[in-house]
Amino acid sequence: MALTIGIDVGGTKVAGGVVDEKGTVVAQTRRETPADDPAGTRDTIVAVATELAAQYPEANAVGIGAAAWIDAAGSTVLFAPNLAWRDEPVRDIVAKAVGLPTVLENDANVAAWAEFRFGAGRQADDSMVMITVGTGIGGGIVINGGLWRGANGIAGELGHIQSVNNGHPCGCGRLGCLEQYASGKALVRFARAGARQEPDRAALLLELAGGDPLEITGRQITEAARSGDGVARDAFAQIGYWLGVALTDLAQAFDPQVFVLGGGVIDAGDLLMGPVEATYRKELTNRGRFPVAEIRAAETGNTAGVLGAADLARRI
Ligand code: BGC
Ligand code: NA
Ligand code: ZN
Repeated sequence: MALTIGIDVGGTKVAGGVVDEKGTVVAQTRRETPADDPAGTRDTIVAVATELAAQYPEANAVGIGAAAWIDAAGSTVLFAPNLAWRDEPVRDIVAKAVGLPTVLENDANVAAWAEFRFGAGRQADDSMVMITVGTGIGGGIVINGGLWRGANGIAGELGHIQSVNNGHPCGCGRLGCLEQYASGKALVRFARAGARQEPDRAALLLELAGGDPLEITGRQITEAARSGDGVARDAFAQIGYWLGVALTDLAQAFDPQVFVLGGGVIDAGDLLMGPVEATYRKELTNRGRFPVAEIRAAETGNTAGVLGAADLARRI
């Protein structure tokens, strides 16, 4: 069975896998990567790809997913709002080092592709829109059964559509982006502000954070919300609201068969999905008069990056 290599470049680690055409991961490896060090990150990608290619000489292509804006050719990192990467010809560096055809793609596009092929979007045969909710917010658009990359490679940057006019400054340089209102970072910001304003309603959360609002983390917010902490629940309700508004707008623009929400923050389950659904149902124009896309939670989890990148490599 034809094998390809998929590589998922995260902020702290590079994960790689060898994947068959059914989406089975037959081998895996991972390495730490030095934060904010583009050269170190690139060397780590090469090391992971080389290791897997040596183990599986029959693997015939490499796909790489990274949290960055990639050019139309799938070869160069143009820009990364949350990484130090600029104008790096990653594809050719890896292709040359490993000796295999290589493709470079945005991390959320890769996750969307993994979900469309093997996860929550696999029943859709035509269209799907995905939002990944992590430290940042990513997006991926599948149209006519294929990943929509746009004229310049940067379609699906759904984290940088505007939620609030003149709102919170974003790493991309714009004000009020969805990423500043619905990401894991936003969740923490909302919870810290809430805990300062209403410490009584944040008693559980503050206890987990050792009493200091500035020490509140995403994981603590999920734990406290599960136990009923008011401020923690409000923080999920806030990011859920903004995600619901964004999905409503995206339904108007794309009318996809299905929406998929992924990323670490969706581990909170109904704490997040509840407010997202409620807002989406409420905001939709002409709601109830005709069918609309269902919102599903991603299913491929941690392996989305490796799976999606390997499957895209198969299509080079
Ligand atoms: C970046 C995207 C990326 C997303 C998730 C955003 O800030 O603009 O390119 O997909 O974060 O990592
Ligand atoms: Na994207
Ligand atoms: Zn932005």
